[in-house]
Amino acid sequence: MKHLIAPSLLSANFLDLRKEMGMINKSDADWLHLDIMDGVFVPNISFGFPVLNALKPICQKPMDVHLMIVEPQKFIPEVAATGAYMMNVHYEACSHLHRTVAAIKETGMKAGVTLNPHTPICLLEDIIQDVDMVLLMSVNPGFGGQRFIEHSVDKVARLREMIDRKGLSTMIEVDGGVNLETGKRLVDAGANVLVAGNFVFKSPDPIQTIKDLKAL
Ligand code: DX5
Ligand code: ZN
Repeated sequence: MKHLIAPSLLSANFLDLRKEMGMINKSDADWLHLDIMDGVFVPNISFGFPVLNALKPICQKPMDVHLMIVEPQKFIPEVAATGAYMMNVHYEACSHLHRTVAAIKETGMKAGVTLNPHTPICLLEDIIQDVDMVLLMSVNPGFGGQRFIEHSVDKVARLREMIDRKGLSTMIEVDGGVNLETGKRLVDAGANVLVAGNFVFKSPDPIQTIKDLKAL
């Protein structure tokens, strides 16, 4: 399967979200990645459900929602109501991850489980069969524009090996510091979806940059 590109709205111009959405709709982007932060799980606050609901009627791409919040299970109905395609919760934020994954899928959304850079993939051994996607953080979550953590490439390769060994079709998404150089190595290691914030939105021609990421 050709890899997918999910631009992250976090790096967009918030004064002109309608124009940014127009660009995303016109582009080769496969999904739109939306980062929700609570200032507790991560040291930053981004945007929340009012923004997602405002985008809902004008966003023509499936919404890939990344919740960087404590107790994400409390907000499953709110995320589902935005029409989201994928709901990603952090492994580190869920005491009853199996229950949370089941509850997400019950709404019709796909369930993604996210790992911080320090969280080992072996912790997924007994849940991976139930999740649609694993989102590997290749920066510490909370901010766009950070430097890529090199170890992430090896982590993708080992997760790919685990998924193949179990004969699963779980997708691997990578988030943080993705550009053409890191993106190529991630795809070669087995990533299915690349999130890119700064690299897309701060580039002179975001539509072409998305095309270039897609062509890796
Ligand atoms: C970081 C967010 C990312 C962020 C990536 O906590 O989860 O989605 O937007 O930004 P870049 O691609 O600029 O590293
Ligand atoms: Zn994200």
